[in-house]
Amino acid sequence: MTRSKRVRPGANWPGQRSRETTPSCEEPRDDFFFVLGHQPLLSLAELANVLRTSGANIEQYRLMGDVVVIRSGHSLDCPKLLGILGGSVKAGRVLAHLSEPNPETLWESLISDSVLGGLAESAKPVTLAISLYSSLPEEQFPMAQRRSVIEETNKRCKKFLAEKGVSCRYLIWEGSRRAEPIASAQLIKTHTLESGAEICLVWDEKGLFIGKTEAVQELDAFAKRDMQKPVRRTTEGLLPPKLARILVNLCRQLEDRMLLDPFCGSGVILLEALQLGLNVIGSDLASEAVDASQVNVHWLYKQDPTLPDSKGNAFHCHDARRLTERIAPLSVDCIATEPYLGPPLRRPANPLEAARLLSELRHLYVEALAELRILLRPGGRLCVILPRLAGPGQGYGLDLRDEIGLMGYRIVSPLRAVAGFFEQTHLLYARHDQRVFREIWLLESPGQER
Ligand SMILES: C[S@@+](CC[C@H](N)C(=O)[O-])C[C@H]1O[C@@H](n2cnc3c(N)ncnc32)[C@H](O)[C@@H]1O
Repeated sequence: MTRSKRVRPGANWPGQRSRETTPSCEEPRDDFFFVLGHQPLLSLAELANVLRTSGANIEQYRLMGDVVVIRSGHSLDCPKLLGILGGSVKAGRVLAHLSEPNPETLWESLISDSVLGGLAESAKPVTLAISLYSSLPEEQFPMAQRRSVIEETNKRCKKFLAEKGVSCRYLIWEGSRRAEPIASAQLIKTHTLESGAEICLVWDEKGLFIGKTEAVQELDAFAKRDMQKPVRRTTEGLLPPKLARILVNLCRQLEDRMLLDPFCGSGVILLEALQLGLNVIGSDLASEAVDASQVNVHWLYKQDPTLPDSKGNAFHCHDARRLTERIAPLSVDCIATEPYLGPPLRRPANPLEAARLLSELRHLYVEALAELRILLRPGGRLCVILPRLAGPGQGYGLDLRDEIGLMGYRIVSPLRAVAGFFEQTHLLYARHDQRVFREIWLLESPGQER
């Protein structure tokens, strides 16, 4: 292996505990990294559930900001997984782990067979992207140092490939001169994964993982379902399709076939469930909503001939609190839903307004959840969004835990498959500009898990 000249792009590198210590470089086994997007815990919960449904577990993991490195004991099919997940935006295999990274060990690892070896044999010019993810604060790993690591790494790789007779161009992040990771959209647009590689450097205070991206999320497909479906009921508050996908993946278990959304609006959750091969029942009190869902579902069938037989789907215009009048008990495998979250707020609610709004919503939620419990098969799961109004501290929420228990549901931690998070009752989906946040709860009907 060629020995790289020592280059120091700044002071001590993060993770380099002492200059005298021999850097350790281990070959990781079946370790994979997932870039978790804007809601890391929610995306991690989704990933854990999808893995569990497909028979793999998270044996060990390390959460590093918005990236998780996992060991599952199985080789994972990253393209297939990213076709299922709503939260993760990139995934790939970890090729090396440096517990005490320094320039030499990093560049030596990069030019090894497992990382750039394949590209060195390319007969065509290759495109290379280096993305750096780090959960370290700016004081410990300043932006200038990150930029310098990326630039120097790019140059080293280019030089190594040139010596092998391979021409290489490297991608610079489109939007700014900061050391941001290369966006998935840019990787897709430039066909980098097909004509080269993206190397991800995932760095925290305990060391550095070097990974090669194997798949990125199909952003266009989500954007198309969001923006190009025929009916968008923006006044009712549209659920982002990626979040809808996460809800479906959280409640869905192996062999589930039929999903119900009893507050379906324009059908955002139904479209994501259909894409995952489930049949759907959409129901809403408003006839315009049911019509919108039907038109959107029909549109999706025209776009994608691989969806499950449409004869298995059903639509009802009905009150969620009386749905047993339309749907047979125990006939639904799983439920994902975003009920009415209250009126849009122009400013954050004060304590009195919050108490009034939440007491009005409480009746709707309690009655609807009790009714849905009758429809759900034994062991079936319901993923429901509860409103949390922005306010001081945690804001104001609906505490339904007692009522939920009395109805016979079991509250399941969305992160139960991830060590250290067993007690988490729910997860929050929040953006700083929102006045109503979404709490994501997972409930299970008593009975046998399939
Ligand atoms: C927040 S919206 C759901 C939006 C939907 N997730 C989407 O993205 O299109 C809530 C929906 O609940 C419906 N709704 C309100 N009260 C209801 C009730 N008692 N039973 C069924 N649907 C109800 C409203 O008509 C509205 O479509």
